[in-house]
Amino acid sequence: MPTVNHSTAGVTEVQTLFKKHFGYTPAHLVGAPGRLEVLGNHTDYNDGLVMSVAVDKYIFIASAPRTDGRVELVSSAFPGAEKFWITEFQPNPAARWADYVKGVLAQLRRRGVNFSGFNAAIHGTIPMGAGMSSSAALEVATALTVRKLYPYSLTETGSTLPPKRSERGELPPLPLPERMHFARLCRAAENEFVGVQCGLLDQISSLYGKAWHILNIDCRYLTVEHVPVIGEAIIVCETGVKHALVGGEYNELRRNCESAASKLGAKSLRSVELSHLRANRARLTPREYECAYHVVGEIARVVAAERALRADDHRQFGQFMFQSHESSRDFLKNSCKELDLLVDLARKHPGCLGARLTGGGFGGATINLVAYHQAESFMQSVAQVYEKHTGHKISPMVCQVVDGAE
Ligand code: GLA
Repeated sequence: MPTVNHSTAGVTEVQTLFKKHFGYTPAHLVGAPGRLEVLGNHTDYNDGLVMSVAVDKYIFIASAPRTDGRVELVSSAFPGAEKFWITEFQPNPAARWADYVKGVLAQLRRRGVNFSGFNAAIHGTIPMGAGMSSSAALEVATALTVRKLYPYSLTETGSTLPPKRSERGELPPLPLPERMHFARLCRAAENEFVGVQCGLLDQISSLYGKAWHILNIDCRYLTVEHVPVIGEAIIVCETGVKHALVGGEYNELRRNCESAASKLGAKSLRSVELSHLRANRARLTPREYECAYHVVGEIARVVAAERALRADDHRQFGQFMFQSHESSRDFLKNSCKELDLLVDLARKHPGCLGARLTGGGFGGATINLVAYHQAESFMQSVAQVYEKHTGHKISPMVCQVVDGAE
């Protein structure tokens, strides 16, 4: 069995699922990590700046090729199998989870990638609906699974000659510049097939992650820098609230940001200065103004926070995280009372340097930067008081920062 260079939790499960369902041993195994947005809420689709980490929670796919042009998928999280021909990618309302796979396959086809059928088992350790991007990880894992089964290389506009396998039959790791083409392909799958108009944050994070480093992503120039973050624990607290309409509300935020930019004569909010925004407030609807105010301020915060991080000033960095949450809550309005409660509880703990909602919002989870030696006491006390207030039991978890998928 090929090896994977990351945490093994989930690996046995996916292999067992494959064997149980298909009756033989899989040929390939791919793992793509989830991500946490550290700073920069809803900045990515505004050509802005955003910081994130890839974390030790994965979507795994175990696979093997087929000769009959059929794809058969099975998932540990959903009943039944999804089967289709490689010439027909239709969304199936009864198996939404498979849309992410089909969306990627459709994009690969569009770029001229030749592939045939396969069997695949999917198992994830990323909590679903927590805002840790299980969907992007599934997209990335799908694209990399097809690369293993039917090698190809992506270019800016399509595909080209496949990479050569080594004498042992292994493919070289995905080159860094090519990862951006993979990220864009996976994002296109989500935009066009699934219908969520997300930016590139999640897919880039899953592909460019680096152990012990925060990614500093520039979504206009599509560059990624790695800034070390050592010495603090990253803790996720799930609210337990999953917002059913997240797709629709997300797209609406995006529409407001884009119409604000266009009324201000800018290609995107990345090009808008706060003074210009303030001076032109009357040209925008109140909602456009609020959304733009958040985004413009948030991009500036990422710039300032990067300086703090490079100077190892984690306390200052954490302050920017709190400010980011307040801005999301008050202007973007994508928080909810459970997220606000978690951030308030975090702020009261002496070990906490910063806390904020992470990802799309409207539920999901918070990310907390906590001094290592206080991590246990932080998790216990936040969980205890949260339960007292809401009746919900939660299990905060420490996340390790890991390398991206290959
Ligand atoms: C979701 C989207 C990302 C990004 C975040 C908010 O995770 O998928 O593209 O917009 O929300 O920052």
